[in-house]
Amino acid sequence: MMGSHLSIFKSEAIEALAIKPEGIYVDATLGRGGHSLEIVKQLTSGHLYVFDLDLEAIKESKIRLANYLDKITFCHTNYANIVSVLNTYNIKGVDGILFDLGVYSPQFDTPERGFSYRFNARLDMRMDQSQSLNAYEVVNTYSEEKLKDIFYRFGEERYSNSIVKQIINNRPIETTLELVDVIKKGLPNKVLNSKGHPAKKVFQAIRIEVNKELDSLEKSLNSVVKILNPKGRCVVITFHSLEDRIVKDIFNSVSKAPKMSRRVPLIEEIQLEYKHLTKNVIKVSEEEKETNLRSHSAKLRILEKKE
Ligand SMILES: C[S@@+](CC[C@H](N)C(=O)[O-])C[C@H]1O[C@@H](n2cnc3c(N)ncnc32)[C@H](O)[C@@H]1O
Repeated sequence: MMGSHLSIFKSEAIEALAIKPEGIYVDATLGRGGHSLEIVKQLTSGHLYVFDLDLEAIKESKIRLANYLDKITFCHTNYANIVSVLNTYNIKGVDGILFDLGVYSPQFDTPERGFSYRFNARLDMRMDQSQSLNAYEVVNTYSEEKLKDIFYRFGEERYSNSIVKQIINNRPIETTLELVDVIKKGLPNKVLNSKGHPAKKVFQAIRIEVNKELDSLEKSLNSVVKILNPKGRCVVITFHSLEDRIVKDIFNSVSKAPKMSRRVPLIEEIQLEYKHLTKNVIKVSEEEKETNLRSHSAKLRILEKKE
């Protein structure tokens, strides 16, 4: 499997980081280490801190990054903890941080991880296999109201009500394919006959809930922008609109002046510390879309701390 995961926006993300060879960098989502390898190759006296919730990702990347281990610190923890972990290494400022959100292919392609509606496996979907909350628990123990809310908010599934009714009536649901069958019972024929997998939205919603993906992203971005060094950059690659909205809102909130009443005279122009460099978000090229299915909805945003 080594190497089958293609890093999306590889050259664009590395270019966006504007790497200084002596700088301090963070790869918040190590995965298979594709982006990390490109970063670390450019470092001389600099250092790279890498984070991942998935121990398998860390193990695999250590092999890929074997020639550079003296320049890398591996952190098996949530990227929401970046600032506190860096503190323990006495790092107070960083020159660049990269987030390449979502799952990496072995999570989807290993049936036992229970992420995919393509293989039968016990419901799981944990990125961090040491955490206790898993997809089985979400599907079988959450209240009707809570499940509807999750499917609406995290899956943007308009048939949440009827799908949740089917789930409640068919509990316990043990496996991914049992869940697919139950979801199908809650969908009208026009959806079942349309393009795209009928369980895609609900599976996305459950995965986001199990891994608390949006909460972690918000918490992490709000804290890491504060430790950017002057000219330091935060680069984020997102894969769906819920993620992109969080990134856009946080980047805009720190880079745009708040609206003032015209009646309040501006004594001094407000000095903003950050620049959102991608007000027009960067999308993948048609060429990359052809080589990588996962890249279709990918977007890249860059925030820079001013000098
Ligand atoms: C798309 S992959 C990254 C791929 C990587 N850029 C590469 O080139 O191989 C995303 C990775 O982020 C990890 N991840 C997701 N949410 C996380 C979180 N909250 N904290 C730490 N790692 C997380 C996943 O386990 C996965 O390995």
